Amino acid sequence: MPRHFAEKRLVIASHNPGKIREIGDLVRPFDVEVVSAGDLNLPEPEETETTFVGNAVLKAQAAVEGSGLPALADDSGLAVTALGGDPGIYSARWAGPAKDFAVAMKKVQDALGDAEDRSAKFVCALALAWPDGHVESFEGEVHGALSWPPRGAKGFGYDPIFIPDGFQITFGEMEPEKKHGMSHRALAFRQMVDACFA
Ligand code: IMP
Repeated sequence: MPRHFAEKRLVIASHNPGKIREIGDLVRPFDVEVVSAGDLNLPEPEETETTFVGNAVLKAQAAVEGSGLPALADDSGLAVTALGGDPGIYSARWAGPAKDFAVAMKKVQDALGDAEDRSAKFVCALALAWPDGHVESFEGEVHGALSWPPRGAKGFGYDPIFIPDGFQITFGEMEPEKKHGMSHRALAFRQMVDACFA
């Protein structure tokens, strides 16, 4: 049985205001107040693990250690089948220091070349860590195929080259509400809320 979250406060182990707002909205119905790692001046740990879940757990535990409060962290990325799962946990790093995803998408396309298998998935791992060391983790995936050239400006990151299964449009062309209802992040959050908050 997953552990129920009965605490009043939760640290979001992120410095991204968009993520913090979204997670705050999600747990508010359960009477949980969220504080961000930025508000508490917590340092961002180096992501040294080799899996999405490993990095999410590492980030959540670092925030617990720095705050003494329970903490939630996520880690996500694009895994391309023909590239053995790359860029995977390195998805943000493929965009370089300028965080240029036009560059990152081109790198993916160049690496794929004329590979027949263009399947890929977005993965999102969530880790919820308590001060006594207990951790619950969840993973959501959305499967699809890569297209070229990039299309659509509604999303972020690798969205313009990812067509989810069952659709003809990329995540970059999809209305954000639609994407947010079916994304890897939405699926991971739904699992966590059902298991620990509801
Ligand atoms: P994180 O903040 O370490 O989890 O980095 C995740 C990276 O994966 C982001 O910088 C994006 O490049 C990519 N990524 C994750 N989720 C999405 C998505 O929904 N659309 C497009 N790119 C994503």
